Amino acid sequence: MASKPNSVITKAIFPVAGLGTRFLPATKAQPKEMLPVVDKPLIQYAVEEAYAAGVREMIFVTGRHKRPIEDHFDMTFELEIALEQAGKQELLEVVRSVKPDDMECVYVRQAQALGLGHAVLCGQRLVGNEPFAVLLADDLMVGPSGGSPVLKQMVEQFSEWRASILAVQEVPAEHTRRYGIVAGTAVNDHLVDVTRIVEKPAPEDAPSRLAVAGRYILTPGVFHEIANQPRGVGGEIQLTDGIAGLLRREKVFAYRYEGKRYDCGSKEGFLQANVELALAHPQLGAGFRDYLRSIEI
Ligand code: UTP
Repeated sequence: MASKPNSVITKAIFPVAGLGTRFLPATKAQPKEMLPVVDKPLIQYAVEEAYAAGVREMIFVTGRHKRPIEDHFDMTFELEIALEQAGKQELLEVVRSVKPDDMECVYVRQAQALGLGHAVLCGQRLVGNEPFAVLLADDLMVGPSGGSPVLKQMVEQFSEWRASILAVQEVPAEHTRRYGIVAGTAVNDHLVDVTRIVEKPAPEDAPSRLAVAGRYILTPGVFHEIANQPRGVGGEIQLTDGIAGLLRREKVFAYRYEGKRYDCGSKEGFLQANVELALAHPQLGAGFRDYLRSIEI
């Protein structure tokens, strides 16, 4: 059993109820968060990142494809017995490590995909009145080699500032329409004191090129703000609008994380993640590199 960390952030929401239309037909009958990158589904990367940051209660906001995610984090008696009987101890460990004993998984349903803000609001009762993390598993984050995973970096920032922390990265001007964009005053090389946040602005309206990536640490005040927002861009209840409301009452910081993000909600980003993570894989990397060299590109 893993030791219990003394973390300030113990709960995380994983919104996994989106329609995943950019990844059809793969997402017709399964959530995009179950798509595997090399040998693990996207959701497992995000859960492992949260666990490494000290989170122990994983709250999944699910939609119509609830089963595969629930099954993935459940006990699989038949499989475990079969592996045990076959003496496949290493594989047994791989299967068991998906859900460490001190990790709890809870599920709440978002009946209709009304937007990311609405999905987060569905987790309110389970989170209660404490700060929490939000991880979008389709953003696969790889921390710097030898350094902390991205959410752990953010928890460290939260411990220092005791305010909401948004992961951000600089994007090309022509991509601002894909993200929430923040503007504010630089506190240091890594941190911006946010004064504005806008959802998916056109390049000419974007207040900066600092885009919010799929990792957030939020104070519980955000629930009240989301609940009071009218529908925003695309007719959805936007998390960005909830954060914009929070900004009027509390400090919110944008944190330039160290590491790399793969947008696995898009086919290109998903392919890039597979290639790069396969190359970095301890068992597969060398052979895969040789294979890539051998094919004509
Ligand atoms: P996206 O903006 O990527 O939307 O959601 P989507 O529906 O999943 O995918 P596309 O754009 O149609 O391809 C960002 C995150 O918010 C979750 C998604 O599961 C994803 O992790 N989400 C979005 C919800 O849980 N509920 C929603 O109503 C909307």
